Amino acid sequence: MKIINPLLIVLALIALAYAGVNGAGMHSLFGVIIPGIAFIIFLLGFINKVVYWAKAPVPFRIPTTGGQGKTLPWIKHDKLDNPSGMAGVLGRMALEILLFRSLFRNTKAEITGEGSLAYGSSKWLWLGGLVFHWSFLLILVRHLRLFLEPVPGLITLLEAGDSMFQMAFLPAFYLTDAAILIAATYLFLRRVVSPQIKYLSLPADYFAILLILAIATTGVLMRYYYRVDVVAIKDLVRGLVTFSFNVPEGIGVIFYIHLFLVSVLAIYFPFSKLMHLGGVFLSPTRNLANNNRAQRHINPWNPDIKIRTYEEYEDEFREKMKDVGLPVEKE
Ligand code: HEM
Repeated sequence: MKIINPLLIVLALIALAYAGVNGAGMHSLFGVIIPGIAFIIFLLGFINKVVYWAKAPVPFRIPTTGGQGKTLPWIKHDKLDNPSGMAGVLGRMALEILLFRSLFRNTKAEITGEGSLAYGSSKWLWLGGLVFHWSFLLILVRHLRLFLEPVPGLITLLEAGDSMFQMAFLPAFYLTDAAILIAATYLFLRRVVSPQIKYLSLPADYFAILLILAIATTGVLMRYYYRVDVVAIKDLVRGLVTFSFNVPEGIGVIFYIHLFLVSVLAIYFPFSKLMHLGGVFLSPTRNLANNNRAQRHINPWNPDIKIRTYEEYEDEFREKMKDVGLPVEKE
C-alpha cells in the first residue's frame, strides 16, 4: 500500500491536469495561477524553514568526527574528517555537497551464510544518488533557457556538452535526460526490491521519487515525442516571470501536465524531506570545526549567576567571626 498509494496520487495528479486543460479548458489555472501560487509557497516555505533552523541555538561544537583530531605536532591530523578550522570545514562541506563523500564511505552490513556479521562496500547508492542529483541540477540550469532572453552563453555551452553524444536524434539528445531517468528508476526500485529498505521506507519516500520521475518523463516526452511549441512556452514562462500573464494558444497538454507536476513538487518541497537541499548547509554535525580542546566554548544559555567570593563574605562577617573565635584570613 505504501507504494501503490503514492503511485495513485501521482497518476491522479496527471489525470487532473489533463482533464483540467483538455476537458475543461482551464489553461490560465494550470498555466499561470497554480504555478504562481506554487512558486510563492515554495519561496516562503523554504525561507521560513531555513530561518527556523538558522535560529536554533547550537551552544556546543558537535561535529561528527571520523579521524584524528588536531593535537600534538607529531601525531598526524586528519584535516578533512576532523577539521580544526574554517578551511577544513569548507573542504569537508564541499566534498559532502558536491560528491556525497559520507555516502561514498558508507558500508552495508550483512549476515553471511555462516551467520556472522560482515561489512561490505556499498557504492551503488552513492553512484545512483550522485547521478540523480547532478543530472537534476544540470537539467534545472538548462531550463533557464526558457526564462532568459537572450540565452546566456554558459547555458548554450552546457547544452552543447550535455548533447555531445548526439547521433541520429533530433532534437539533440541530452545525456542528463537518460541519466535522471535511469538513476531515479534505480533509486525507486532499490526501495521496492530490497525487503530491508522497503521496510524502512515511507509513502513519502516513494511519492518524492515517483513525482520527480513523472516530471522527468513528461519533460522527455515533450522534447522527443509530443513536440510542443517551445516559442509559445517561452512567451508563457516569460509572462510568468514579468507578471504580464498571458496564455498563448497551441501549447500541448503535456506541457501543462509537466508544469502542474512541478508546481505540486514546489508546494510539497518545503514540508518534506526534500528540504535536505537547504538543511545540508545548516547541519551542525558537518559545518562546525572540532576545536573543542583548543578553544573554550561557553554555553550562551548559562544563567548569569551572581557569585560571591570568600573575601567578600569575610569582609561582611569578619567582626562577628572574630567575636565567636572563628579564624579569619585578614585581620
Ligand atoms: C523540478 C523541475 C523540473 C524538472 C526536473 C524538469 C525536467 C525536465 C526534463 C527532464 C525535460 C526533458 C528535456 C530537457 O532535459 O531539457 C524537460 C523538458 C521541458 N521542461 Fe521541464 N522540468 C522542470 C521544470 C520545468 C518548468 C518550471 C518549466 C516551465 C515553466 C518546464 C518546461 C519544460 C519544457 C518547455 C520542456 C521541453 C523543452 C524542449 O522541448 O526542449 N520544466 N523538463
